[in-house]
Amino acid sequence: MDATRESTKSNGSQPRRIGILTAGGDAPGMNAAIRAVVRAAALANIEVVGFRRGYEGLIRDLAEPLSGRSVANIVQRGGTFLETSRSDEFRTSAARGLAARNLVRHDIGALIVVGGEGSMIGATIFSGETGVPAFVIPASIDNDIRGTDYSIGFDTAVNTALEAIDRIRDTAFAYERVFCVEVMGRDSGFIAVAVALGGGAEVVIVPEIPHSLDEICNRVEESHRRGKRSSIVVVSEGPRTGGVTPVADALTARLGMPARVVVLGHVQRGGAPSGRDRLLASRMGVGAVQAILDGAPPSLIGEVRGEIVRVALSDVADRRRTLDPALIDLVHQLST
Ligand code: F6P
Repeated sequence: MDATRESTKSNGSQPRRIGILTAGGDAPGMNAAIRAVVRAAALANIEVVGFRRGYEGLIRDLAEPLSGRSVANIVQRGGTFLETSRSDEFRTSAARGLAARNLVRHDIGALIVVGGEGSMIGATIFSGETGVPAFVIPASIDNDIRGTDYSIGFDTAVNTALEAIDRIRDTAFAYERVFCVEVMGRDSGFIAVAVALGGGAEVVIVPEIPHSLDEICNRVEESHRRGKRSSIVVVSEGPRTGGVTPVADALTARLGMPARVVVLGHVQRGGAPSGRDRLLASRMGVGAVQAILDGAPPSLIGEVRGEIVRVALSDVADRRRTLDPALIDLVHQLST
């Protein structure tokens, strides 16, 4: 991994034009990343072509030139103005062939993909097949992408969920109730753990670690014996945890009072990006353009211990970040 400078500088041969798209689940801060790429590229005299609707737009040639002016007033907006999609079609070599022809038609010498794990796998395969270097800016509220400590959108999603938990806590306390709150994260528990720690939850359930409903009930019951009158249980979504309903049903049966359920869902995906996400997105966007100027191999542009780094796509694609189980213990220790 190489640390990169965060203001762009050309080291010789550079493409005349590059492409950019946002793919997979949208994440707050994607717009800030596009803005940074377009403006940093303009400073280096590189033109940028945006493709709408993710890989689908690359296949169908939904191209539009992006100038410094076309990315004005978006740094503060959630979602992605280029729009996004999850493209099953891009998994086929026929569709990737069409996409490659569109890159050639536009004379595009490098591609920047702003997206999550699935998008990174697509970029790795596409880059290998076409020889057009792809650079991935990690953006996913799930924060499950290998090679970076943080992905764009995670901080905003956690803050949004925490704001909801704080509100739930008010009514939970007033009414002496147990609330089970389901958060997003797909197959990983990074959001759940951050929200449980930051929101002072009694229990957290994540996909990575098997749980027993009996044990969860014991914990909440025990906290009530210690004098607590209200509790928050944070549950990661998805088939591996079973979601929030079985947990609430088990608690209702054990405690003899109804546990309330809140599913935060896509509320966590929207909204203005936090300051941290805007900063991260801006630095990664500039880092991606610098990687292109340096003639770097296809890479993920990550943030590791506060530094912007490049990691070869072949080293990170198809592998998830792993959750530190000590964080689960910390949630439980701090809720005593
Ligand atoms: O990957 C981001 C994410 O928001 C996950 O947390 C969630 O499981 C999934 O996307 C939801 O996908 P969709 O928007 O397609 O329902």
